[in-house]
Amino acid sequence: MSQKPPSDILDRRRFLGAAGLSAAGALLPIAAKAGEGAKPDPAITELQDWNRFLGDGVDKKPYGVPSKFEKDVIRRDVSWLTASPESSVNFTPLHALDGIITPSGLCFERHHGGVAEIDPAQHRLMINGLVDTPMVFTMDDIKRMPRVNKVYFLECAANSGMEWRGAQLNGCQFTHGMIHNVMYTGVTLKTLLDQAGLKPNAKWLMLEGADSAGMNRSLPVSKALDDVLIAFAMNGEALRPENGYPLRAVIPGWQGNLWVKWLRRIEAGDMPWQAREETSKYTDLMPDGRARKYTFVMDAKSVITNPSPQAPLKFKGRNVLSGVAWSGRGTVKRVDVTMDGGRNWHEARIDGPVMDKSMVRFYVDFDWNGQELMLQSRAIDETGYVQPTKAELRKVRGVNSVYHNNGIQTWLVHPDGVTENVEIA
Ligand code: MTE
Repeated sequence: MSQKPPSDILDRRRFLGAAGLSAAGALLPIAAKAGEGAKPDPAITELQDWNRFLGDGVDKKPYGVPSKFEKDVIRRDVSWLTASPESSVNFTPLHALDGIITPSGLCFERHHGGVAEIDPAQHRLMINGLVDTPMVFTMDDIKRMPRVNKVYFLECAANSGMEWRGAQLNGCQFTHGMIHNVMYTGVTLKTLLDQAGLKPNAKWLMLEGADSAGMNRSLPVSKALDDVLIAFAMNGEALRPENGYPLRAVIPGWQGNLWVKWLRRIEAGDMPWQAREETSKYTDLMPDGRARKYTFVMDAKSVITNPSPQAPLKFKGRNVLSGVAWSGRGTVKRVDVTMDGGRNWHEARIDGPVMDKSMVRFYVDFDWNGQELMLQSRAIDETGYVQPTKAELRKVRGVNSVYHNNGIQTWLVHPDGVTENVEIA
């Protein structure tokens, strides 16, 4: 930090001047002084209902739910996106969350055949194929093995997929909400595979779900033995049905479609199942007509969640800009923010835990004098990879793909605070 080159310092000064910020200065008063308003404030002078009447007893809600005043903080879907809600997706309300953990009930859902409602007593996980001893595990068996707790992001490869050809959806819930970040409890896949004993020619695994789609995906054995978990809990309680109850695969840093939910079988083989089926699932169509295959890793990406179209700027003076960043290649090292469309960049303050393949939360505390802002964030991960602009990405990948759009997002904040999804030419 102390080794900043002079040009960087200059840029920072220009940036602070240009955006009218006093990021480093003392905190200006934000609230009114008591008794300062012209009229008495009924929120102070009147007795409120919640102050007057007894509240609910402890027997009212055996399982808690959010306050009724938070009723708009929900997953939302885009009805025109898919033909049926059973094979569809909804989106995490990123603009309404803080910190790095996504509450279980707000984690986006993506299924191909609806939510399987599985009785855990009847659920089995089979490991077969190129193994010394085919095995069948019950849930009780799995819970008697050594456990681990890890926080990881899950991002669908199609996150931001609707934005390849230009700014389309007005809200970070829809442009970036196919992601969640959760603490998983489970056993390592290595623990299970060691019991079955992989044969030397086992190079790929086929993971199969017990849902009506019977979804299966291929996973290289090298990744399986590295950091893959078989999880039965998220955020301290059993997985939610929509996220794979009672058992799901957790494939850190890799695209969400590999994270097979309702996991019932793992078959070891010598080649990817996708290759056998000649399927073109999850390939990235390039401008020259060729397709990138097996693009598993989710590269570094970030988005400003506040302000954003669903969370406009309401106040002049002191404000908090906030967002999230992540990288499938490790930890996020730094997040930069610009308020003038990329002319000047400023290092954001990351607050909270910084963990391998987990989201980080970043902030910029700033004063807004009502001028137009062109907001962007860019993530830099521990490998030195810098999140690309959309123009840089399109130059290499074209606009034909649906997948792996990790380009820099732009929000335009108008003088009245209304915020829009735009692109800089
Ligand atoms: N597993 C099964 N069995 N069936 C599915 O439809 N969808 C996959 C993956 N696992 C799916 C599945 C896709 S495409 C994604 S992006 C993630 O689950 C989404 O996980 P989530 O619903 O917990 O967010």
